[in-house]
Amino acid sequence: MRRFKYAVGILGLTVVLLSACSKTEEGGMKPFFYVPDGFPDPVYKFQNNPVSPAGFALGKKLFYDPILSRDSTIACGSCHQQFVAFAHSEHKVSHGIDNLLGTRNSPALYNIAWFPNFMWDGGVNHLEVQPLAPISNPVEMDETMPNNLVKLKRSNSYPGMFKAAFGSDTITTQAIMRAMAQFMGSMISANSKYDKYIAGKDIANFSCQM
Ligand code: HEC
Repeated sequence: MRRFKYAVGILGLTVVLLSACSKTEEGGMKPFFYVPDGFPDPVYKFQNNPVSPAGFALGKKLFYDPILSRDSTIACGSCHQQFVAFAHSEHKVSHGIDNLLGTRNSPALYNIAWFPNFMWDGGVNHLEVQPLAPISNPVEMDETMPNNLVKLKRSNSYPGMFKAAFGSDTITTQAIMRAMAQFMGSMISANSKYDKYIAGKDIANFSCQM
């Protein structure tokens, strides 16, 4: 299955999230987005939307901010929880605004820069439009982008963050989508036993045992 193609167990998950960079095994610093050894080129074109510290920080803030939902109660991070690889723990199906139940479970989010499409049925074909689905879904965040633009524009922090990330404090839907793509696209899992084996490291230690 597509989602297991580059996959690894949650135990092997190394997510580059909390700071600008993370330490490599050699002690150097990795950038937000990098292509791990043994991985193919990503599907998402970061050349058109280079990850910057300000863009990543903005995407992260948006991801965890319930302001994007109709009544400011549900964030992306409500259903995509970092401690379980950005899935939704202990829920058969996700629940969103007004405690309404969806019909599907939240997939874990990692290595999605390599995905050619999204959702369990592959119904969304680009990372930069994917957030429109949960934002407008009546049982998830139930909000419109015009309303979100109004809310973000009148906030104290967002205009400055957009200016830092994209050079203009004019907030647009495209800039929102690009910031979130920078954040989500940088969620990388690449250090499991399997990944090390594929990268040609630790070959002697690879077995089916955990
Ligand atoms: C109410 C719970 C809920 C919220 C809130 C939510 N999601 Fe999701 N997310 C899901 C579910 C359920 C799916 C699978 C949907 C499907 O297959 O139709 C999903 C799928 C995804 C995927 C595709 C992953 C894959 O493997 O194909 C991405 C990316 C994603 N969500 C990002 C976001 C972002 C960004 C936000 C905020 C703008 C968000 N989600 C808000 C529940 C949620």
